[in-house]
Amino acid sequence: MAEPTVAIVTGAAGGLGSATARALLEQGHHVAAFDIDHSNLADLAGEHPERLRFTTVDVTSADSVESGVAMVRDELGLPTILVNIAGTNRIAPLTDTTDQLWDLLIDLNLKGTFHCCRAVVPHMREAGGGRIINTTSNMGMRPEAQQVAYASAKAGLVGLTRSLALELAPDQITVNAVAPVMTLTKRVAGLPEWWKDLQLSKIPFGRYGTIEDYVATVGFLLSEGGAFYTGQVLSPNGGDFMS
Ligand SMILES: NC(=O)c1ccc[n+]([C@@H]2O[C@H](COP(=O)([O-])OP(=O)(O)OC[C@H]3O[C@@H](n4cnc5c(N)ncnc54)[C@H](O)[C@@H]3O)[C@@H](O)[C@H]2O)c1
Repeated sequence: MAEPTVAIVTGAAGGLGSATARALLEQGHHVAAFDIDHSNLADLAGEHPERLRFTTVDVTSADSVESGVAMVRDELGLPTILVNIAGTNRIAPLTDTTDQLWDLLIDLNLKGTFHCCRAVVPHMREAGGGRIINTTSNMGMRPEAQQVAYASAKAGLVGLTRSLALELAPDQITVNAVAPVMTLTKRVAGLPEWWKDLQLSKIPFGRYGTIEDYVATVGFLLSEGGAFYTGQVLSPNGGDFMS
């Protein structure tokens, strides 16, 4: 998008989220940073604190999301960019996947994105268009063992993305997903070495993804050149899988 606008980024205190929020600030947008964690806020504000609003939003709560989006509308204006990044993962065999773990991973990764899309779309319609980017994973396309809940949530996001893309095309709203391969954010760097080695062994390029790979893909989908892409899953993955 050439013109600066109002963007919402969820999971904005995390590895991929803070880098995305920073890139959007540098491009001149107003950024509403949604997260439950305040710890990275000082870093995130960078040189543009006047265009950043950090809001404590729990994406698993419809009420929390609705309140956060209403604040954005009132204080910043109509949001026309939504980048859904909040999410997490656990390594767990089927019989260790409790209902609580299943609910955590489905509610955060899948239902949270649903909540945010539902709250933001009326404002995008009012604005005459918008761009939505969801963050799935290579695990939603080429799953690993011990990922039943996470792989289900991330595969669900592919379905959500494609269905919503069809529904919102008449409103000039694009809906796409980015599916990163393993990327060493602080959280992921702390995973067991055997797990990281297993993922690396499946990436023909012989390296992990970088935060820059992810941010560049988001940047393309938000650019003028990305305007005719919708319902797509773009995967910066070094050949991990091909769709
Ligand atoms: N890093 C990777 O290797 C990788 C690969 C594929 C997909 N992804 C996806 O990318 C996204 C970000 O990953 P990351 O590595 O940056 O993780 P991260 O843990 O660094 O960031 C996630 C952020 O989400 C926030 N969050 C957690 N629960 C929340 C809630 N209920 N409401 C709002 N915010 C909440 C956390 O506080 C955190 O700041 C996730 O959806 C993840 O599944 C990551």
